[in-house]
Amino acid sequence: MLICSKDNIRLEEDLLYNFNINLNIQRMIDVKTPILDKLIDTMDKERISFHTPGHKGKNTLIEWGKLVPYGDTTELSGLDNLHYPTGIIKESQDLAARTFGAKKTIYSVGGTTAGIYIALGTLTNPGDKILIQRESHKSVYKAAILNKLTTEYIYTNYNRKYQVYTGVNPRDIEKKLTDDPSIKVVVITYPNYYGICSNIEKIAEIVHKHNRLLLVDEAHGSHLVFSNKLPIPSLKAGADLVVQSTHKSLPSLTQTSMIHVGTDRVDIQKLCDISSLYQTTSPSYLFMASLELARAYMEGEGKERLNRNIDNIHELIESLKSIEKVKIFTGDENDRTIYDIDISKILLGIKGLTGSQLSNILMKDYGIYMEMSDFNYTLALATVMNEAGDFKELLKAIEAIAGKEFEGSNPCLVPNLPEPKIEMPIHEAYYSNKEEVDLVDSIGRISSSFITPYPPGVPVVCPGELITEKILDYIQLALDKGIEIIGLIGYNREKIQVVKEEGNDRY
Ligand SMILES: Cc1ncc(COP(=O)(O)O)c(C=O)c1O
Repeated sequence: MLICSKDNIRLEEDLLYNFNINLNIQRMIDVKTPILDKLIDTMDKERISFHTPGHKGKNTLIEWGKLVPYGDTTELSGLDNLHYPTGIIKESQDLAARTFGAKKTIYSVGGTTAGIYIALGTLTNPGDKILIQRESHKSVYKAAILNKLTTEYIYTNYNRKYQVYTGVNPRDIEKKLTDDPSIKVVVITYPNYYGICSNIEKIAEIVHKHNRLLLVDEAHGSHLVFSNKLPIPSLKAGADLVVQSTHKSLPSLTQTSMIHVGTDRVDIQKLCDISSLYQTTSPSYLFMASLELARAYMEGEGKERLNRNIDNIHELIESLKSIEKVKIFTGDENDRTIYDIDISKILLGIKGLTGSQLSNILMKDYGIYMEMSDFNYTLALATVMNEAGDFKELLKAIEAIAGKEFEGSNPCLVPNLPEPKIEMPIHEAYYSNKEEVDLVDSIGRISSSFITPYPPGVPVVCPGELITEKILDYIQLALDKGIEIIGLIGYNREKIQVVKEEGNDRY
């Protein structure tokens, strides 16, 4: 069992001793450190991690405890500069490009969020139109605001039988591109939150046939290149730009991502300039070193471990399938939008429990932490750093839970995310004068904010979109199911920000 304890993070004993002494002195003089207190509390708990970060609280290649804070430095002589790399950072990025199969790689110390801002800023000019999936992560929407882009949506298929968003039909993209010559860039999430992969090779072929650009949000797919038992990496499939959250599926520190250039269609000088626009002038060397270490680890032992874990996952899935009451999603041969599945994301549920309830039981009673949950499922995100024992513990816990009787909240039939009606460009609504209205009075108004159920972080309404009865119903359903909704305001989260109707002086 993975124990994310002080031992596990291998703070040397004397370091740990000093750490505790210092902390106790601080407490004696009543200095409050709420974040640190909680962090230590969390570290003390025995737990099995099926969530991010991909390192799962373990060291790879070095002992991080020895490097902090001494290795936390700035651009001293010889340490190069992320904004104009010519030395060690350039060398490190070039090595990453070679491993991931890119023409060029740039490190992002602001996660894939900054990576998407940079990628869209590179591929567009203000005023351009982009085609995005409605289920895109909010960083894609925010990139549209920052880069002053207009958005057009493509809808991912919602598989009613299994209650999951599956993939995008390449033919739908083809139709959109044929109908609207003003679309400049297509943005695809690959794999999606559930590990489902659209036919990215076909999509790349269509996008390029129409002379447009393909950006892939591969936040959940940094590991794909390291095993041929996994779906094809989008760089190999022909994507122009790809952004990956290395920290999610490989062992790098939270907040570290990579932006990879796949084709000559990308203006590399512009990419460097825009990267400089969005990234801090004080990038963390610890972050950059952790990106390098994740790559180096995966070139050696990591690759073998990943492949071993994939076999462990297949075994786990077979065992889970044999347990009565367990629902496990492994695809649907009748759904053509599921082209492939990233097996490292294990989507499971137990009849009679919502995904959130199951996730809570796993956490509280078994110390197993899941990545996310929704109405019907909870998702175990396995990485190279999981141990064989983690899968066994998960199986044991699921067997035990499935053997119990539950009063039975039946999984609800999730309505499709309501189709939005865009009334004004997202950036215009975002920067407009705003007012707060009660949710019940908001029908017919234009939202100026994002309302996002968490997880999975897909907005149900975005700035510039009309608020309808269906949208309010969806929000209410999510609230009733205990899903957290970000974006509502007021004491009881009963209000929403909308575009002010009169005297609306936009900036
Ligand atoms: C699909 C997708 N894209 C982008 C992001 C943003 O990634 P990061 O946390 O690295 O900023 C996330 C984060 O959860 C995501 O799920």
